Amino acid sequence: MSTIRPSVTPPSAAGLRPITNPDTPDEPNGFEPDGSVTSPFHLLSWVQQNRHLMRPPVGNKYLYSGKDFFVMIIGGPNARNDFHKVNSEEFFLQLKGDIVVKTIEGGRIVDHHVREGEVFFIPPNVPHSPRRGPDTLGLVVERTRPAGETEHQMFFCPQCESLVYDKVFDCKDIVAHFARSMEEFWADPALSTCRSCGYRITKPQP
Ligand SMILES: [Fe+2]
Repeated sequence: MSTIRPSVTPPSAAGLRPITNPDTPDEPNGFEPDGSVTSPFHLLSWVQQNRHLMRPPVGNKYLYSGKDFFVMIIGGPNARNDFHKVNSEEFFLQLKGDIVVKTIEGGRIVDHHVREGEVFFIPPNVPHSPRRGPDTLGLVVERTRPAGETEHQMFFCPQCESLVYDKVFDCKDIVAHFARSMEEFWADPALSTCRSCGYRITKPQP
């Protein structure tokens, strides 16, 4: 007769390691290194404590950074006119104020007005560019991307809607290199001038 043993697999053996976003190595991940659960916390109190850290150009702060997905709170104003394309979905919840999310659909720039209290979903591989005004606050959920997956930083001409620039990153490098790449683009007329109509894309002011 065999003895029945509890079939509890230690979280470490189950592959549950703390996953920390490289730009926020000291932030909680929603579960502890031993696989246990962190306590609930109040979203708007967290925002109050961290609002001063949400600064242009992107204005984001990680609320959660897990194995399968991450959640960011983004406070406006942002100061970016780049588009972003990745092979995964994104979920937007607009907490305060209204924003515009530009997408590229059928080769044209489309403005989606996401108003306070509204939700918005972006399908995989749709280039998108959120434009967030001052004193706005939004939540975005994205899938954690494995190394080897790629992510596009793109610029489209606001005058003739042509693609001006398309740079592909490995997702593992994105945090370190994405912001610098934007600065290099804006600073270099050879990169940031539209070949179709001659319009120069410059760095936006917040
Ligand atoms: Fe153009």
